[in-house]
Amino acid sequence: MYNATKFQLTVLALLALFSFQLHAQKNTSWKSYSGDPAIEKKVESLLSKMTLDEKVGQMNQYSGNFASTGEVSSNRSGEYLKKGMIGSTFNVFGTDHLRMLQEQNMKYSRLKIPMLFAADVIHGLETTFPIPLAEACSWDLELMERTARIAAEEATAAGVAWNFAPMIDVARDPRWGRVMEGAGEDVYLSSLVARARVKGFQGIQSYKDFSKPNTMLACAKHFVGYGAGQAGRDYHSVDMSERTLRETYLPPFKATVDEGVATFMTAFNDLNGVPCTANEYLYKDILRDQWKFNGMVLTDYTAIMELIAHGVAADLKHAAQLALDAGIDMDMISEAFVSHLAALVKEGKVKEEQIDVAVARILEMKFLLGLFDDPYRYFDDEREKKVIMNDEHIEVAREAAQQSIVLLKNDNNILPLKKNVARKVALIGPFVEERNSLNGEWAIKGDRSKSVTLMEGLKEKYAGSAVQFDYAQGTTLPLIDRRTAHVSTNQVPDKSGFAEAIQKAKDSDVILVAMGENYHWSGEAASRTDITLPGNQRQLLKELKKTGKPIILVLFNGRPLDLSWEDENMDAIVEAWYPGLMSGHAVADILSGDYNPSAKLVMTFPRNVGQIPIFYNVKNTGRPFNPNKPADYRSSYIDVPNTPLYPFGYGLSYTSFAYSNARISSEKLVPGGNITVSVDVSNTGDMDGEEVVQLYIRDKVASVARPVKELKGFEKISLKKGETRTVKFTINEETVSLYNIDMKWLAEPGEFDVWIASSSDDESQHLKFSLVE
Ligand code: NOJ
Repeated sequence: MYNATKFQLTVLALLALFSFQLHAQKNTSWKSYSGDPAIEKKVESLLSKMTLDEKVGQMNQYSGNFASTGEVSSNRSGEYLKKGMIGSTFNVFGTDHLRMLQEQNMKYSRLKIPMLFAADVIHGLETTFPIPLAEACSWDLELMERTARIAAEEATAAGVAWNFAPMIDVARDPRWGRVMEGAGEDVYLSSLVARARVKGFQGIQSYKDFSKPNTMLACAKHFVGYGAGQAGRDYHSVDMSERTLRETYLPPFKATVDEGVATFMTAFNDLNGVPCTANEYLYKDILRDQWKFNGMVLTDYTAIMELIAHGVAADLKHAAQLALDAGIDMDMISEAFVSHLAALVKEGKVKEEQIDVAVARILEMKFLLGLFDDPYRYFDDEREKKVIMNDEHIEVAREAAQQSIVLLKNDNNILPLKKNVARKVALIGPFVEERNSLNGEWAIKGDRSKSVTLMEGLKEKYAGSAVQFDYAQGTTLPLIDRRTAHVSTNQVPDKSGFAEAIQKAKDSDVILVAMGENYHWSGEAASRTDITLPGNQRQLLKELKKTGKPIILVLFNGRPLDLSWEDENMDAIVEAWYPGLMSGHAVADILSGDYNPSAKLVMTFPRNVGQIPIFYNVKNTGRPFNPNKPADYRSSYIDVPNTPLYPFGYGLSYTSFAYSNARISSEKLVPGGNITVSVDVSNTGDMDGEEVVQLYIRDKVASVARPVKELKGFEKISLKKGETRTVKFTINEETVSLYNIDMKWLAEPGEFDVWIASSSDDESQHLKFSLVE
């Protein structure tokens, strides 16, 4: 029997008291995001005048119902508006409408607290850029920052001061429809893209200075693990090790904090059993204590309410308490905070100080944005007229689209289709004249009727040329019913257009086919278990193949597809994704060779859905498959190879590049030092072109198993035909650091492989070095 001494008991009591105080402090102390004492004073002074109801009102956010992404949207927003109890509204457009809403708010808000308007400006406002996954395939960070900036220039003139972007969920499962919104499967690339986008959206010149009216708050979303939902099903549970979380899913978010991101959005999913929206570990321990993030955290759509369905909250009141305790500041749609926090304070279940902290974070953003000085400063009719879809923006949209389109296959250099070579082209497929889908999902303000179709792009490009087109649609795109979220795979395939298409194909020299997914087939709530071309499109391709004519397939879609059959049977494949406003022109630029394709995949294309999840930086396993020495009982499949159809980092050009002469400044890296690796890249083909040169490393022996390779650098270069350029990368301890067996971030001495490569599967330029003790 254990008998505690008086001394032991006193120590225990003191410890308990200390930890309570620490906890209480964690819950109730506000540190400003800006660190600006003048702003802090203003926030504190305003806060001291607010009633509890006014405070919880600030934590309440509504949707403008323009883009509802859930079942629930309140009809009580009018009632709360009249009480001055709405802190923010999102996805409401039209400066007149917004101005009116702000006027109403200012009329009813006793302390004249402006409303903050937000929106999902994911890939452009009216000038719609390619979907983010596509744009990431450009590997051009400067371009991504530029398109984000343009999106912000347009949005901030049209009333939006807070962008629900960038979405930076690492995504390795193409069944998940939202892969289209991020930067793909790799943590290194995703982190850099995340920074570029935050920089572009926020547009702040000096740190946290939002004084210019074209600056806006960015929002890193969805924290965290949303891309790792089981089986690629949207909103599904996420179960992952601390190591995977730290190595792969957290770093892009940390990168946005380093870039000064102002806000975070919670993820819908649970993480190891704890829904993210009620996850103290994520928001308090990681985000605030470890990363020192002092910005504002908002939930995703009805995510507090969903804590009930998750099975961690008994009712909405309980859910509100859990979310507040987790460190959430603003409630999107659920009305949990506005309905229950005041009562929870009165019952002593939450402290008013917790609410003060959340409200202080919200008010600080409003002060920083200058909304107290002028609640209407983001409605600028003149600037709106000047910036929305101006010529410069449209030009960048075309450039971004050109740089996003990946050439996957090009046998016998069938592409480009030169304007001066006489050919009869049968132009077939549902995407030749498709306009609506070209912007992809999340172009909520992008006017779909303005997007340039492939037909229009080709007509303009080839006008007066030697190339003649003869069009037949052939088949249609199956649709999805957004309300039932079901397809459509059951739709009876209509083959009535096949005969005409086949006849035109027979009469041609070459067949150009444009196919893909209707835009509702990717994006939120659009997971698929079959990622082949929807409907009877492949069936039509099979018929066209029988004509014996060469076929060029252009694809418009929002996720990596299973293209195994197409790869075997098509002569050329162009992955255009959803290129946005300038779709038809950009694709025509590529097809004609006026732009030489330079994009490289940022997500692996599997051979079939059974290989998923598939990504390049896997571990070796204890029984790695060796293609030169196939043997039983190895880590492989019996029906398909382990390798993907198209690997991460892969993409062709109309010219060819040769890598040679890899060299290293020293084979010994000393702690604190650095070494350089270099390679000569030559353009050995007939056209000028751009190449993304990639650096991969492998840690050969470490305290924990390391991936077979990891991307650690890249450079996009432009080479004239015949030109050779040396590309150099620096390697230091940070390049080779890892979370060791004790989860400490450090570099372990030992040997490393290095590849400077044109794709993740290119091992021709191989070097070695050691980190010495
Ligand atoms: C739900 C989505 O998950 C999120 O990304 C988006 O910002 C909100 N809806 C608001 O539209």
